[in-house]
Amino acid sequence: MSTLEFNLTKNRSAVRVAEFVAFVADKDTEQALKRFVLEEAMPHVHIAIGGVDDAIVHLSKLDRSPQFLLVDLQSSAMPLSDLGRLSEVCEPSVQVIALGERNDVGLFRSLLKLGVRDYLVKPLTVELLKRTVNVAQGSVNQVSFARTGKAIAFTGSRGGVGVTTIALNLARHLTSETHRRVAYIDLNLSGGSANTMLGIETNNGLWEVLQNAHRLDPQYLERTLVAKDGRLFVLSTEQDFGSRSAVDPATFQRALALLCDSFHYVFLDVDSARNPLAGAAFDAAKRVYVVSDRSVHSARQCMRLLRHIEDRDNTPQTSVVLNSPNAASHGKVQADDFAEAIGRSALHEFHFEPKSLQVAENLGEKPKEKSPNGFNQSIIRIANDLTGQMTKTELSLFSKLAVWRK
Ligand SMILES: Nc1ncnc2c1ncn2[C@@H]1O[C@H](COP(=O)(O)OP(=O)(O)OP(=O)(O)O)[C@@H](O)[C@H]1O
Ligand SMILES: [Mg+2]
Repeated sequence: MSTLEFNLTKNRSAVRVAEFVAFVADKDTEQALKRFVLEEAMPHVHIAIGGVDDAIVHLSKLDRSPQFLLVDLQSSAMPLSDLGRLSEVCEPSVQVIALGERNDVGLFRSLLKLGVRDYLVKPLTVELLKRTVNVAQGSVNQVSFARTGKAIAFTGSRGGVGVTTIALNLARHLTSETHRRVAYIDLNLSGGSANTMLGIETNNGLWEVLQNAHRLDPQYLERTLVAKDGRLFVLSTEQDFGSRSAVDPATFQRALALLCDSFHYVFLDVDSARNPLAGAAFDAAKRVYVVSDRSVHSARQCMRLLRHIEDRDNTPQTSVVLNSPNAASHGKVQADDFAEAIGRSALHEFHFEPKSLQVAENLGEKPKEKSPNGFNQSIIRIANDLTGQMTKTELSLFSKLAVWRK
C-alpha cells in the first residue's frame, strides 16, 4: 500500500488526527486528491491507495475520527456491507463521501440511507471535490439537505411555449454546474421533445413503470431510466398516437416518491394540464413553474392554471416564467398589463433567441450562447432561485446593503 501523508502543520500533537482521510483505488484519483488538498491548503491529510478494508484498519488505530472520509468502492464486491463495517469504526460525526465507477441510482440511494453524504462517480476532479467538500465550513455541500429530493413541475399556458426547452436546460445546468442529480420525466405519453433535445432515445421506461405497479422498487425503477450523463436521467415513453390504454396516477405517484429518494430533483415536464398524469404531478410537486408568452390567451390560461394548481391540497409554490418562443415583436401584452391580469409579477422573462436554441435542439446539445441577458444566463438565474443561491451581482448588492444597514 503506497501512502502519502501531508503534514503541513509541523507542531501537531501525537493524537491529532487527519481532518481528511482518503483511501482510493488508483493513481489518477490520488493525484486529483493531492491537488485538491494542496489548493485548499488542508493541514491534516492522509491519502492512501487502498479500499474499505484499508480504511477500517487505519481508522481503528485512531483515537478520533477525521472530519471527512473519502473511500473508494471500486474494489468492493459488497459496498453496502463494507460501509456498514466501516461505520462501526467511525464516529457518527464523520462525513463520508463514497467514490465509485458505477453510476448506480440504487446504490446512491442506499448509501445516502446509510448516512454517506455523497457518492461521486469517477473520474474524480479537483472541481468536483471543490463543489462537494466545503473546507471553510467543514462540511460536505448540500447533499445532506436533500436526503429526499423535490419534485418540481413545469407546465405551459399553451403548446410550444418553451416548457421543455426551459425545464431541460435547467436540469442540465443543475447537474453539470451545481452537482445535483436530476431525474427528468417527460409526461407526454406520445413522446415530447426532451429526448431529442438531449440526443437520446426513449426506452419506454415510463410506460413500463405505469404498467408494473407491483414491481416498483428502487432497483426496478433504476432500470427504467435512460442516463444522459452521470447525473441526469430521463424517464419517458413514446406510445402510438392511437393508443388508448389507461394509466394509473397512483402508480405514478409511488414511482415519484421512490425517485425522490435517489435524486435531488425530479423534474416533471407536464405538456398539458389535460395529461392523465398531470394531477398526480401537481399533487407531488413542491414547486410548479408555469411558462407563458405575453398573449391575451396565455394570460387567461395562466390565471386558470395557477388557480387549478394552487387549489390543490399540497399547495405547491407557483412561479410564472415568461418566454418569447417566436420572433413576433408586436402585439404582445405589455409586461405590466400581463402582471396585473394574472395578479403577480413573473419570476423572470426569457427573450427570443433567433438561432442558438433551434441549433442546440437539433443537435441534441446545450445552447451555445453567452450574452449577458441571453438564454443561458436566464437559466442560471432560475437555477439560483430554485437552489437558493445568489448570483455574483446579487451577492455584491447584498453585501453593499448589509454595510449600508450597519
Ligand atoms: N426563447 C426562445 N427563443 C427561441 N426559440 C425558443 C425559445 N423558447 C423556445 N423556443 C423554441 O420553441 C420550440 C418549442 O419549444 P418547447 O418544445 O420547449 O415547447 P413546449 O412548451 O415544451 O412544447 P410542447 O407543447 O410541444 O411540449 C422549440 O423549437 C424551441 O427551441
Ligand atoms: Mg414540451
